[in-house]
Amino acid sequence: MALSDRGAAIATAPTRGDQLKHVALYPLDWLEERSGLVGGIKYFLFRKVPRDTSWFHTLGSATLTAFLVQAITGVVLAMYYKPDPETAYASIQFITNDLTLGWLVRGMHKWGASVFIILMFFHMARVFLFGAYKYPRELNWIIGVLLLAMGMLEGFTGYLLPWDQTAYWATVVGINLNGTAPVLGPFLAQFLSGGAEIGSDTLSKFYSLHMLVIPGAIIGLIVLHLYLVIRLGVTSPPWSDEAAGRDRGEPPPPKGGRRGLTQPKPRGANGQ
Ligand code: HEM
Repeated sequence: MALSDRGAAIATAPTRGDQLKHVALYPLDWLEERSGLVGGIKYFLFRKVPRDTSWFHTLGSATLTAFLVQAITGVVLAMYYKPDPETAYASIQFITNDLTLGWLVRGMHKWGASVFIILMFFHMARVFLFGAYKYPRELNWIIGVLLLAMGMLEGFTGYLLPWDQTAYWATVVGINLNGTAPVLGPFLAQFLSGGAEIGSDTLSKFYSLHMLVIPGAIIGLIVLHLYLVIRLGVTSPPWSDEAAGRDRGEPPPPKGGRRGLTQPKPRGANGQ
């Protein structure tokens, strides 16, 4: 090898740091090459958002965090809870008084349920006040309404599970209220109680709805919700220059760069 070539080879030889980096990133590279997942996550985390987003825009993520806390603590509770009228109350007592940190997990799940619902309302209020439900985000608002309904149902079905006096009578009231709805009411009440009175069939039905059906629906709806948030981008506050239709004095996004995947235009634009 000529001396000059040898010099070039030495100059381009990877340093120990480069080698370590390559080894450390190898699993990620492996995954990326086969799935594109890393690029997708990077796009999600580093996508462009309007410059004037504020703390108000964190309420959706706060709601998501509250839901994840409910999901994790719920899985732990499901390991010890027994959905049977003979044993349900005793299993709750066991979790609260005897299980290591059981009181904490149960407390987080119980109070977290209220936090989840309250945050959902705050997030919905933010979306409403910012006019973020308008074109082209109507579908995401509708998905949000379904999420709200599912969240409330989750609270209703979970309330019965401790099988104490409060749980029992609150459910009697809830089912009777549903029974007064026009046309569908009696069928709904019959479906929920699962028989002539509230008993073991009601409890297992509520348990299945509470830990399988409704969380599954919520997860599916959240995936759709977030897909639309990424696709459409988030709205600027109503007081921002962009919302008022004024030039924000920013350089235009580079070709291919965008705030969301679509740039909302008023209906009728493009001669449609
Ligand atoms: C499990 C419940 C929910 C979760 C986890 C959730 C999550 C999120 C997140 C992370 C965002 C983007 C950031 C933000 O704007 O805060 C968002 C945006 C949005 N959410 Fe929700 N959300 C939930 C419930 C709702 C409800 C109840 C509504 C209304 C009925 C709603 C309507 C919207 C709309 C229209 C947007 C777009 C806002 C914009 O473009 O500025 N969401 N949501």
